[in-house]
Amino acid sequence: MTMPFLEVANVTKAFGHFVALRRISLTVREGRTTALIGPNGAGKTTFYNLLSGRLQPSEGTVHFCGRPVSGQPPHKINKMGISRSFQITNIFSELTVLENVLVALIAHLNLGLRFWRIVNRDKKLAARGMEVLERLGLGPLASSRAGTLSYGDKRLLELAIVLATEPKLVLLDEPTAGMTPEETHAVIRLLRSLAAEGKYTFLITEHDMNVVFGLADHIFVFHHGELLAEGTCEEIRAHPEVRAAYLGEEVD
Ligand SMILES: Nc1ncnc2c1ncn2[C@@H]1O[C@H](COP(=O)(O)OP(=O)(O)O)[C@@H](O)[C@H]1O
Ligand SMILES: [Mg+2]
Repeated sequence: MTMPFLEVANVTKAFGHFVALRRISLTVREGRTTALIGPNGAGKTTFYNLLSGRLQPSEGTVHFCGRPVSGQPPHKINKMGISRSFQITNIFSELTVLENVLVALIAHLNLGLRFWRIVNRDKKLAARGMEVLERLGLGPLASSRAGTLSYGDKRLLELAIVLATEPKLVLLDEPTAGMTPEETHAVIRLLRSLAAEGKYTFLITEHDMNVVFGLADHIFVFHHGELLAEGTCEEIRAHPEVRAAYLGEEVD
């Protein structure tokens, strides 16, 4: 039997008396772009916080490649290969685009206090940073100050920061939020081609159904903290409860 990639078993998260997630069990498969949808308050962000170690489940377990995620601090989970985007708040405006990626790499490699190693590895790190920037189309902006980038390019930089550390599972919280239609299409194309390379598995929350249906191989629908449905785009589009409860006209 092959080991499940990400396995969530019977996870409940309560905040005091309020149950934000109730008995969630699901499996995310490696190499399959998976979307997590559901209206505001459904528990999507709470779920991400459980996967990235910012919160601990009240009950249940999360395993990644057979190893327990629940109980581990965020930096350990990150080392295990789960990385999450932080919506621009992670970007240092005063540093250049490349320097932002290098800071992430240095933090990830634990080089923080060992400056001599940074000096020695400087060229290799910079080359790795440039490679990621070029893959995302940010190569020409490598020496621009991050604060001067357009909103869409800042979101791409945020993605570059996440991908630089070569995670296996990438958690993206609304990757196209606030983007123009052109930027949104470009990001969909980019994520599709990155997914096709097979190096990263994406788990995406997204409001925009066009983005979800354009990207996802598999969809989970949360509602009031419960898993209401899962399936392919076609199955979710046709799912009567999903149609009635959340998506309404949007599914068409
Ligand atoms: N730290 C917290 N304390 C109390 N309630 C919370 C906390 N975080 C989230 N919630 C509640 O849990 C529910 C799910 O929130 P959230 O996971 O942010 O939903 P979504 O991301 O799907 O919009 C909401 O009702 C929210 O108010
Ligand atoms: Mg949210």
